[in-house]
Amino acid sequence: MSGYQEHLEEILITEEQLQRRVRELGQEISADYEGQDLLLICILRGGVLFLSDLMRELTVPHSIDFMAVSSYGAGARQSTNQVRITLDLTMSIGGRNVLLVEDIIDSGNTIASVLELLNLRRPKSLKICTLLDKPERRESEVPIDYRGFKIPNKYVFGYGLDLDEYYRNLPFIGVVRQDEVPELDDAS
Ligand code: IMP
Ligand code: MG
Repeated sequence: MSGYQEHLEEILITEEQLQRRVRELGQEISADYEGQDLLLICILRGGVLFLSDLMRELTVPHSIDFMAVSSYGAGARQSTNQVRITLDLTMSIGGRNVLLVEDIIDSGNTIASVLELLNLRRPKSLKICTLLDKPERRESEVPIDYRGFKIPNKYVFGYGLDLDEYYRNLPFIGVVRQDEVPELDDAS
């Protein structure tokens, strides 16, 4: 894998913009959960950079846990808006205030399915915080409680999001060159 520069069309969100927005979200979430117990759940792998920056901006005590999901077989006849848990939470979420921390909501199918699965475990509350929102491609309606940025329908990478599993480390969000937009067939 070569350097990211040759895949980059343009920088969509700079490091400074990301850090400023994450700080604002951290303040908003801290105010909303003041005096309450909070559990952040990060969906691997795209959400890890966002989670680690966001939690450092929180002034309320909180715990974190991780889960990973994958879409049911691409190309299968059944609809793809169901996910399978490939790595489950360590903690029990019953009776807790849960905040799902996601990198991006695109079709919304992944997060809608995760919400359904987690609601069965009877959390006290279950909310969504996504760094990026690509509303143009929405198929499943999902209630977004905290949103970093609305972005156009372009494939982006960096700051946790991958381009064929690389470049998640970049401190900014970049748009991939039009001639190499990858197939979206997993939910990581
Ligand atoms: P959804 O189920 O269509 O909402 O897609 C959710 C998942 O698709 C995200 O968690 C990402 O892993 C992946 N995804 C969607 N759009 C992008 C993108 O522009 N860049 C990188 N990954 C993406
Ligand atoms: Mg992915």
